[in-house]
Amino acid sequence: MTLMENLEETVLYIKNHGVKEIDFALILGSGLGELADEIQDAVKIPYDKIPHFPVSTVQGHAGQLVYGTLSGKKVLAMQGRFHFYEGYSMETVVYPVRVMAKLKAHSLLVTNASGGVNKTFEPGDLMLITDQINHMGTNPLIGMNVDEMGPRFPDMSQAFDNAYQKTVVQVAETLAIPLKTGTYMGFSGPTYETPAEIRFARSIGADAVGMSTVPEVIVAVHSGLRVLGISCITNLAAGMQETLNHEEVIETTERVKTDFKRLIKEILMTI
Ligand code: HPA
Repeated sequence: MTLMENLEETVLYIKNHGVKEIDFALILGSGLGELADEIQDAVKIPYDKIPHFPVSTVQGHAGQLVYGTLSGKKVLAMQGRFHFYEGYSMETVVYPVRVMAKLKAHSLLVTNASGGVNKTFEPGDLMLITDQINHMGTNPLIGMNVDEMGPRFPDMSQAFDNAYQKTVVQVAETLAIPLKTGTYMGFSGPTYETPAEIRFARSIGADAVGMSTVPEVIVAVHSGLRVLGISCITNLAAGMQETLNHEEVIETTERVKTDFKRLIKEILMTI
């Protein structure tokens, strides 16, 4: 079967389970999954029931789509995402974004956890993603282009929607939630970076590093979605603190999730 045929089956299944119009597709990263529990009149569809959908393996990711109303907007949330380091192909990692686009979501809000590279950042900071650097060693659009989905050579000059960014800065100010801004650089993982890689990242303009988001944003742009990204700086990147570990990442997301959720709900309300 072709990608298009698979997508049609997936979308048909999701629609048959009650998913109708979508304003925002949400990809909820580490620690933020529980935002989906606040979606009203929720329809929940476990990934393993959806034809052609992959299943997530990382702990702390529930693995379901949640559709309903959040802050007055129709949202379809991915509670748990697929990472390249889990061994999925790029095509699989971005499949859900293609599904969101085919379901006619007009915008995508992505969240993630990242390591702070910018020396002014502290663990617990929230960062509005203004741009990204693809350092994953591949690109999800490599291969035959399906012209119905998007152009062969997508323009990435404004991958993160400028108007959305302005709104987010204003909303954060109103809520008195400090918000950093910066460029997110995606590594494949699963190793954390070395101190030398972090010096390299900083020298080419990265403010934060992580192991997700970049492929999804590429495909969202390809599909014509307006993209908004917010990252939680969970730790200082390698070489900037003694050691790195997953527990700290989880601890920090737990610590800031109240503000993170408040910010996202207010953004959805305002946009
Ligand atoms: N590096 C890569 N990914 C991450 C980090 C990091 O320091 N922190 C959270 N996710």
